[in-house]
Amino acid sequence: MPVNAQLLNLTTTGARSGRPHTTTVAYAEDGGRLIVFASNAGRPQSPAWLHNLRANPAVTVEVGELKYAAAATEITGAERDRLYAEQAARDPAFAVYQQNTTRKIQVVALTPARVSAAAAHLKEIHAGLREQLNDTLAAVDAYLAGNGQLPEATNDLQRHCLSFCSALHAHHTREDGVFPTLAATFPELKPTLDRLAREHETVAALNTQLTETLTQLTTAPSREAAVHLRDNLHHLAGELETHYTYEEAHLGPALDAA
Ligand SMILES: [Fe+2]
Ligand SMILES: [Fe+2]
Repeated sequence: MPVNAQLLNLTTTGARSGRPHTTTVAYAEDGGRLIVFASNAGRPQSPAWLHNLRANPAVTVEVGELKYAAAATEITGAERDRLYAEQAARDPAFAVYQQNTTRKIQVVALTPARVSAAAAHLKEIHAGLREQLNDTLAAVDAYLAGNGQLPEATNDLQRHCLSFCSALHAHHTREDGVFPTLAATFPELKPTLDRLAREHETVAALNTQLTETLTQLTTAPSREAAVHLRDNLHHLAGELETHYTYEEAHLGPALDAA
């Protein structure tokens, strides 16, 4: 797989087995569709997923945090040639794959059927993050209740705080990665996505502050640092509630309407 390729997980139904078959493939975006290439790294035979989707074009696409049902359509003729040439220009490995096989590498478009499952999934992730933040707040309270004298309270606080910060960072990084695809698929979402991306920056700055306060607290434990950490967490919680609410309200229905 070429380095830096945009990847998605494609699940097809086995043409013979009838069982789900998931594979990771590089994709391109074209006019609201995702395009995948049956290169099989230039091998003479087409990949199994192509045979599967020819038998059953109802597939599942997972891209970043989005998972949705899609319809697969094989593209032929001049349009296929254009899409393949564009992919080979973006990623020269695809030019090599085509040189290595006599078959014409097939090109498939994936068009979202409905993405409401993605909106529900988003709510679940937010609920998980909310819980991790609450656990961190409880750990600060426990730390303060023990006046920072209990080493296990410090360890507990550090563990909760770091796992929340990294989970939040990972979630927003994945969202940022999928926003360009969403904007291409649903152009009307562009202003919403721009606002969400700005909010991610605000949250990232608060997340950095929080990590710095935690470092202060663990290197030089003090009540003051713990109170500061609690303030940081409350501030972040407020920003996140606004962000989650907006994201779920504006991204959810738009996705459901797709
Ligand atoms: Fe977000
Ligand atoms: Fe989110």
